[in-house]
Amino acid sequence: MRRAFITGITGQDGSYLADFLLAKGYEVHGLTRTESPARADRIQHLRDNPRLVLHFGDLCDAMALYRIIHKVQPHEVYNLAAQSHVGLSFDSPDHTANVTGMGALRVLEAITQSGCKPRFYQASSSEMFGKVVEAPQSERTPFYPRSPYGVAKAFGHWMTVNYRESHSLHASSGILFNHESPRRGEAFVTRKITKAIARIKAGMQHSLALGNLDARRDWGFAPEYVEAMWLMLQQDQPGDYVIATGETHSVREFVATAFDHVGLDWHAFVVIDPKFIRPTEVDLLVGDASKARRVLGWEPRTRFVDLVRLMVDADMDALEEEVARSQWGESCRTEKFVEQPQLVSQV
Ligand code: NAP
Ligand code: GDD
Repeated sequence: MRRAFITGITGQDGSYLADFLLAKGYEVHGLTRTESPARADRIQHLRDNPRLVLHFGDLCDAMALYRIIHKVQPHEVYNLAAQSHVGLSFDSPDHTANVTGMGALRVLEAITQSGCKPRFYQASSSEMFGKVVEAPQSERTPFYPRSPYGVAKAFGHWMTVNYRESHSLHASSGILFNHESPRRGEAFVTRKITKAIARIKAGMQHSLALGNLDARRDWGFAPEYVEAMWLMLQQDQPGDYVIATGETHSVREFVATAFDHVGLDWHAFVVIDPKFIRPTEVDLLVGDASKARRVLGWEPRTRFVDLVRLMVDADMDALEEEVARSQWGESCRTEKFVEQPQLVSQV
């Protein structure tokens, strides 16, 4: 049985990747922080799967990473954990560099020291292109990061390239453009918007405060993007790949499409709050994924309007369920998850 180790398994991508690999018959090992199980709602549905094993640890704890990798002897390692919020990275640059940048190095070094030779995936980011020098951006576009997060990701990216070249590690880097889903963190703009719309429709919220509406992003659907990660590790040769839709839309267009889907005029609800405007912004992201199409046979399937609508619908349904649950006084799902200690093996 193939074994995979995923850091960031409790995040959006980690949870979809776990679903994907378990469906393929893998034994999946995941890293969770000590406080994570109580917030691990994205992998709740996997709690009874005997092929899922969670390990306590942190990307800042090199010894824990070494011990887990040495014990698990994985065939594939996916480094998805990060302080992944760009805005927050301006307030917390040291922490972001430590987790998002140095964390990647610690995983690479733990692999090397453990003596096993797994294939390695690094979650690189289109944020590395920052103040873009060309459009669309491809694997050949130079980086110009615009945030501590972008700089930390560039460090992790180049460390991955270096371990590939100096240690002959099968190490690949996915330069993923923004990808969203109903499991997206609520502090990212897409989910913030779709969640607010559900609450506005239900009369529970009356306005939505946002920052820069002019920024343009290339937004895709997360479950399709984790498939690209796996495809990279199935190739004979490691490499770097841009994963994107090739379409770009402004935050304003996202807002308008989302409100329109439920028959509301966004102008009546959206207010601009300067606290959400970043010191330096990435104005335009649009990716050229032709290498991924050619080498991996990967194609995005969900287009912008469908993505917006499915996220709005999911938040409307989730709120309806939440209201129904609170009416019936059902206890919190996360408490049940913590009550399954056999899932968590302390290493
Ligand atoms: P996410 O939802 O924010 O998940 C981040 C994960 O990292 C969570 O599981 C979190 O655990 C974990 N984590 C944070 N700090 C940690 C630490 N010190 N030690 C161990 N784990 C830690 O991110 P995502 O959207 O799934 O993205 C996955 C990866 O791809 C990230 O590296 C992100 O930077 C990168 N990326 C994302 C996108 C995108 O559009 N989504 C695009 C390009 C690249 P807790 O649950 O305990 O908080
Ligand atoms: N979060 C947030 N909140 N962003 C806002 C808001 C707001 O209230 N108002 C406007 N924005 C703008 C941001 O300034 C940015 O230009 C855009 O919306 C998208 O912001 P996010 O959804 O926070 O994503 P991001 O593009 O900064 O970063 C995401 O994508 C990267 C890949 O390009 C994250 O997932 C990163 O981890 C990822 O690497």
